[in-house]
Amino acid sequence: MVGRLERKGRLIVVSGGGTGIGRAIAGRFAASGDTVLVIGRREHVLSRAAEELNESLRGAAGRVIPVSGDVSDPRFLARFKDQLEATEDGKVDVLVNCAGGAVRGPDSSLDEIAATWTENYRSNVLTAVLLTETLDPRLRRPGGRIVNFSSIAAFRGGGGPYSAAKGAVTSWTFDLAARLGPEGITANVVVPGYIEDTEFFGDRMTAERRARLIAQTLDGRAGRPEDVAAVVFFLASAEASHITGQVVHVNGGALFGR
Ligand SMILES: NC(=O)c1ccc[n+]([C@@H]2O[C@H](COP(=O)([O-])OP(=O)(O)OC[C@H]3O[C@@H](n4cnc5c(N)ncnc54)[C@H](OP(=O)(O)O)[C@@H]3O)[C@@H](O)[C@H]2O)c1
Repeated sequence: MVGRLERKGRLIVVSGGGTGIGRAIAGRFAASGDTVLVIGRREHVLSRAAEELNESLRGAAGRVIPVSGDVSDPRFLARFKDQLEATEDGKVDVLVNCAGGAVRGPDSSLDEIAATWTENYRSNVLTAVLLTETLDPRLRRPGGRIVNFSSIAAFRGGGGPYSAAKGAVTSWTFDLAARLGPEGITANVVVPGYIEDTEFFGDRMTAERRARLIAQTLDGRAGRPEDVAAVVFFLASAEASHITGQVVHVNGGALFGR
């Protein structure tokens, strides 16, 4: 877990920070001097990411610290909270709920359908809700920032239970923004389109599918994790204090399905 923090810069928590978009977000904050806790279930993936990101900082002030665990598991979250409270100033400046993904499963019986829908909800909604509830008392007031992750699939379908779960993240973000706004905390939801160099598609990406997704953009290219990281970094800045309860799309104009 975390150990003593010897904090540099702001304290940022990024779930799903070991790969893809979350990893780029962690790198973006660390490069600007912040301390970033990256959370994921696979310890070796996280440690390697933290090592590589820290090496790439080459003397810059920030730091990436791996914390392995499942953010949908209340027992892990209780331990994580205790660890943060044991640090000299466990205040969290920015929480990025990036962990998630589309869970495929069989659907030939109601039991199988229930299992797949439940798993998508757990992976995309509970991960964000439970980590946010865990850190809520420790978020900086005023000035704290929460960035949640939805998907283009929530706005135009195509992902079945995954689309529906990401839709739930979006509507929950509005409640969060309303609840925490009076305390000076913003909550926004970032909505990526097709982003390459992530583990999101696993072995489900083909050359044809990639070409189709790129053809739907207006700039003729796939999104990059850094495209999304730049938006998250801005939403987490002091300059973005009047932006809350918003849905920010990063998809090269693909939303309209051209
Ligand atoms: N790539 C795209 O085209 C795209 C498009 C729209 C939306 N998104 C969304 O963007 C976010 C980032 O995804 P990505 O594209 O960067 O894919 P990714 O590389 O698969 O990243 C997802 C990360 O979440 C972690 N994670 C998943 N469940 C977790 C849990 N219960 N507890 C802790 N960590 C967990 C995974 O690590 P472990 O498996 O080690 O836990 C992984 O590092 C996701 O919410 C995804 O739905 C992606």
